[in-house]
Amino acid sequence: MSQQRTERGRGHYIGGEWTDGNGAERRSASDRTRSDAERTFESENPATGETLATFQRGTAADVDAALAAAESAAEAWRSLSYIDRAEYLWDIYHELRDRHDELGEIVSKECGKEISEGKADVTEAWHMVEWAAGNARHPHGDIVPSEIGSKDAYMRRKPRGVVGCITPWNFPVAIPFWHMAIALVEGNTVVWKPAEQTPWCGQIIAEMFEESGIPDGVFNMVQGFGDAGAAIADDERVDTVLFTGSAEVGHEIAGNVGGEPGKLAACEMGGKNGIVITEEADLDIAVHAAIMSSFKTTGQRCVSSERLIVHEDVYDEFKARFVDIAADIAVGDPLEEDTFMGPAIEADHVEKIRGYNELAREEGANVLVDRFELANEEIPDGSEDGHWVGPFVYEIDYESDLRCLNEECFGPHVALIEYSGGIEDAVEIHDDTPYGLAGAIISEDYRQLNYFRDRADLGLAYANLPCIGAEVQLPFGGVKKSGNGYPSAREAIEAVTERTAWTMNNSREIEMAQGLSADIKTTED
Ligand code: UN1
Repeated sequence: MSQQRTERGRGHYIGGEWTDGNGAERRSASDRTRSDAERTFESENPATGETLATFQRGTAADVDAALAAAESAAEAWRSLSYIDRAEYLWDIYHELRDRHDELGEIVSKECGKEISEGKADVTEAWHMVEWAAGNARHPHGDIVPSEIGSKDAYMRRKPRGVVGCITPWNFPVAIPFWHMAIALVEGNTVVWKPAEQTPWCGQIIAEMFEESGIPDGVFNMVQGFGDAGAAIADDERVDTVLFTGSAEVGHEIAGNVGGEPGKLAACEMGGKNGIVITEEADLDIAVHAAIMSSFKTTGQRCVSSERLIVHEDVYDEFKARFVDIAADIAVGDPLEEDTFMGPAIEADHVEKIRGYNELAREEGANVLVDRFELANEEIPDGSEDGHWVGPFVYEIDYESDLRCLNEECFGPHVALIEYSGGIEDAVEIHDDTPYGLAGAIISEDYRQLNYFRDRADLGLAYANLPCIGAEVQLPFGGVKKSGNGYPSAREAIEAVTERTAWTMNNSREIEMAQGLSADIKTTED
């Protein structure tokens, strides 16, 4: 893969081969009913609307082939040592580092994140690979005491088998490695569907696996849309589904998989994340943390903040300072270093953001900044077809059932909510959403910080920081509608392994715990 624009994607990577898959076969055979547009799809630069490359759209038959390959490679792969499996990942670790600038730029071009974020995505990817491959040399279980002196007891882990990975566009390099680096080192084989918005990044990752020499069938990638993802998640050969993406899709996967014995889904979904700014806050930190949490990645992180819950004593000053910056935040070409916010990912998403901005107005918002339609001079030259949006900031009287305070917009759309009373009152408002992924508190009072830490319904909680930017060596995951209890990143290990409680007798006698008699009694006794 070079830095050149890819004109035509290489297809899917299945069983160690690049293939155009079943969609393409049908084109040359009798099936003329699917138009080219249905068999292929395009990767678009969201800043310019330019087509980057055309990819094959995976079918259920392609997923079937990939799962067959993953299943047949599973036995040999799990028989290797952890350390031998990790060797392939170390190759990829070096490749990610060596190609940092090039890949960061590709991330920015394909998903519109500004360049420092594009590069950070690649950095986060190699951090995850480093963690997973390094972990190959760490203990993987526990020695557990037995009541019986002659017994040894251990908790051991073994791979679950075939892991299906479905990943989002907003971290097109990092999140695939959250899933796959761990799944593979732990001895599973993988079938992966990258997001349909970022197939170019998907292809580059697949090329890295190919170049690492990983045995055929251990890693497989099928490009495509939700139908290909569903074909992975629904297939009985898949033992674990790792999904990061929208709550809508994640809940459907978790619901379907939950009904199947022996199969497991670990789903990381969205948030309606909040930052509590108390009367004890340092307002420099508060404004800085809130701007970063609301507008980095154009608000398109699952950990982005869409609610700022501010104490009445500091409300007016915070509001004036926050609004002042939001009104001027630099939206522009993601490849320029002085850009803070790139475009939204696609045209449909711009419409979704427009819908939430309108909804807030209908629900009684007092709009403080509305840069949804950017001024012409703010849009970079030649980028008129990009999916541009700017910050939308409003204040609204808190009411529990306002949709704009409960539903995730996934854009630069943020509410200021004034509260009075103590930290308990702030946390009550904070927790009043169906989600519980990330959040932050800004305060100089350690009692308030610790109350928030212990009581807020969250998977990721920050003090005097933005609520974005989790590091890979921490578990990443949410509660309530944000996740189903198997955090991603470090703790994906729980979802891709089985535990075995292994007890061994070192004596010739059988002796039982709990005072249970081991005597066999017969009528002869
Ligand atoms: C996401 O928001 O979709 O914590 C993932 C962060 C990143 C990952 C975010 N490490 O901001």
